Amino acid sequence: MVTVSSTEQGWSSRTAFILASIGAAVGLGNIWRFPTLAGENGGGAFVLVYILCVALIGMPLVLSETLLGRAGSRYADAQRSVADVAKQSGVSRAWSIFGGIEVLACFMILSFYSVVAGWVLNYVWLSGADFVGQLASGAPFAGGFEGRSQDEVTGLMGELFSSPGRLLLFHALFMAVTYLIVAGGVHDGIEKAAKWLMPAFFFLLVGITIYGMFEGDFAEAVIFLFTPDFSKLSAPVMNEALGQAFFSLSLGSAVLITYGSYVPQNVRLAPTAVTIAAADTLVAILAGLMIFPIVFSAGLDPAAGPALIFQSLPVAFQAMPGGAFIGFAFFILIFFAALTSSIAILEGPTAWTMESFGLGRRASALLVALGAFLIGTLCALGYNVLADVRPLAFWPVFAGNDILDSIDSVTGKIMLPLAGLGVSVFVGWRADRRLVAAQAGLSGAPLLLWRGLVAWLAPVAVFLILLFGLFPGLLA
Ligand code: PHE
Repeated sequence: MVTVSSTEQGWSSRTAFILASIGAAVGLGNIWRFPTLAGENGGGAFVLVYILCVALIGMPLVLSETLLGRAGSRYADAQRSVADVAKQSGVSRAWSIFGGIEVLACFMILSFYSVVAGWVLNYVWLSGADFVGQLASGAPFAGGFEGRSQDEVTGLMGELFSSPGRLLLFHALFMAVTYLIVAGGVHDGIEKAAKWLMPAFFFLLVGITIYGMFEGDFAEAVIFLFTPDFSKLSAPVMNEALGQAFFSLSLGSAVLITYGSYVPQNVRLAPTAVTIAAADTLVAILAGLMIFPIVFSAGLDPAAGPALIFQSLPVAFQAMPGGAFIGFAFFILIFFAALTSSIAILEGPTAWTMESFGLGRRASALLVALGAFLIGTLCALGYNVLADVRPLAFWPVFAGNDILDSIDSVTGKIMLPLAGLGVSVFVGWRADRRLVAAQAGLSGAPLLLWRGLVAWLAPVAVFLILLFGLFPGLLA
C-alpha cells in the first residue's frame, strides 16, 4: 500500500494548496469552453444559470470533495479515499464506486484536453513566429499576421485540423510536458509549477483585458455577458451550464479529492473552497471580458463555437494595434492555464494507479499519460482520417458529435454530474456527521446552510438537470 505519508509529501502550505487548486480549476474550461458556451447560448442567461450552479451546487461540492480527500488521506486516490471515509462512517464501501467514476472521467478528460491544448501550442508557435518576424522587420506594434488575407488566417485552423502529423506532434508535446511535471512529485513538480505559472497567468489576463477595454468594444461585451435573454434557456442549456460548472471547478473528476488528500489537517477547508470557486468564476468572467470586446470590435460572431478563440480572435488581432504581440501573449496565457489543469488531470488517475498497482509515481504517470495519449490520438484523427465517425449516433442529443466532442460530452454532461450526485448523497446523508463537520471546519448556521445545499439542493437539482438535459423529450 502506498500511503501519502510514506511516499509523498503533501502541500508545503495552505497557499500552495490554494494555488494548485485554482490552477487545476482555471484552464481551457474558463478561456475556451466558457466563452464558447456563453456565445452559443445567448450570453447573459447562460452566465446567470452558470453562476447559480457554481454558487449553490459547485462551491458546496468543492468543500465536500476536498474534505473527503483529507478525511480519507491515508490514500491519495479518489476511490480509496471515499472507501476509507465510508469505512470510518460504518457504511458500505460500495460508495467508492463514485470515486471510481471520478478517476475514469479524469482519465478520459486528459485524452481530449491534451489534444485541445495541442491546438493552443500550435498557435503559440504560429503567433510566436509571427511576432518575432515583425520584431525582426522593425515593426513590433503591427497587427497580427500582417500580409496574410483574412481567409488565410482563418484557414490556419483548417490546415492544422487536416494534418494528423501536426495535431499529434503538439498533442504529444503537451502530454510530455505535463508528464514531466507530475513525475516531479507533489511538492517539487505540481506545486512549483503552480507557483510560477499562476502569477504569470493572472498578469497576462489582466493585461490583455485592459488592452481590450481600450482597443475593443468593451460596452457591447458587457451587455452581451450580463443581459439575460431568458427565451434562450432550455433544459439542455441548463445541463450545459451545470456540466460547465463541474468541469471548470474540476468537480466529479478525482482532482479535488486527490488534492484534498495532500492538505495538512490544520488548514480550514471551508474558506479555501470559497476562494477556489470564486477565483475560478472570476477568471471565467474576466476571460469573457477579455475575449468578447475583441470579437465585437472586429464585427465577428460571438456564437462561432469552438473556433472562437482559434479562428475569430487571430482575425481580430490582425486589425488591432500591437496585434502580433497581443496574439502571442494571448496564446501563452491559454497555454499556462491549460498546463496547470492538465497537471491536475494527470495527477488524479496517477494517484489511483500508484495505489492500485503498487507502482511508483513515474511509472504510474507514464502509464496514464500513454493511455490518454492513445485515446487522444483517436480524437485528433476525428478531424481528418476518422471525420465520419459519430460514436454516439444512437443517442439523439449527442448524435452529431465527433470523437472529441463525444468524450467531452459523456464526461462533462454525464460522468462528472453523476459522480457529484453520488458525492452529495454520500456526504449529505451517509458519511459520519461529526467527521464531516469537523473536516469542513463549520458549525452553527454556516454548517446548516452548507449541509442543506449538499444534502438537498445538490442531489435534487443535479438529478433533474441530468434527467431533462439528457432526455429533453420528457418535457415535451
Ligand atoms: N477545470 C479545468 C478547466 O477548467 C479542467 C479540469 C477538469 C481539470 C477536470 C481537472 C479535472 O479547464
